[in-house]
Amino acid sequence: MEMREWAWRVFHADCLEEKLVTPPGGLKSLTDDKPGSPIAWTPPPRPNGLQVSHKKTRFKFPKPGSLHSEEMRIRCLHTFANHELMALEMMAWALLAFPEADKHFRLGLAKILLDEQRHFQLYSELIASKGAKFGDLPLNDHFWRLAGSISNPLDWVCTMHLTFEQANLDHAPFFGRLFQEFGDQDSADLMEVIFRDEVGHVGFGTRWLKKMKPEDVSLFQAFEAHCAPGSPPERAKGPEFQTQARLQAGLDQEFIEQLKLW
Ligand SMILES: [Fe+2]
Ligand SMILES: [Fe+2]
Repeated sequence: MEMREWAWRVFHADCLEEKLVTPPGGLKSLTDDKPGSPIAWTPPPRPNGLQVSHKKTRFKFPKPGSLHSEEMRIRCLHTFANHELMALEMMAWALLAFPEADKHFRLGLAKILLDEQRHFQLYSELIASKGAKFGDLPLNDHFWRLAGSISNPLDWVCTMHLTFEQANLDHAPFFGRLFQEFGDQDSADLMEVIFRDEVGHVGFGTRWLKKMKPEDVSLFQAFEAHCAPGSPPERAKGPEFQTQARLQAGLDQEFIEQLKLW
């Protein structure tokens, strides 16, 4: 199957099943001979019941201290599942938006798309094991709102991998610890899986930022210059700053210090 065909199906799918469709022969069977012409961002279709909700109907994200309640933990997991759904839609879009990007970059995106599909499924199953269902609660369009201002692979890397995904290096262990404290081992275990994959996704972003940035600017300067408007570098960190995870993802000390101070 051509990479574009797969990405097209996922991005334009109007049912959950199709959004989660994987290449029949796995990643290795994908070809990338006809990447096509770039498509501009438009919000992808969503099946009935999974549309973005009106702001007024959305819940506030639960406070950490309220996570002793299963209902609040479900709200949390539901929000994270929605992040995964938006992430997989955006990875598919990036494959359609950047047909001229380096083939290794595109293959890396395809691999991450598979990961995000798996993450979504894991959250869905966990929510179901708690007697709820993905789609029961209102959904936001947090990542989508910034996609329109991403116009090249460098913007993409800085906004998606090095902002949203980098922030998860702080969020995932933070919520993992809370879930564990409140005796929800299944949720804590899932946060650990997500965290480990996210180190890889941020690592992908770091490698490509290093390759694509101009030589005379630092990693952090390039990052700062290419974050989407409305998404400053502070969005790249969460409640407890994880230096080690960032080093593992290949970010340098200078970048880490500058982000910490931001
Ligand atoms: Fe993910
Ligand atoms: Fe990710």
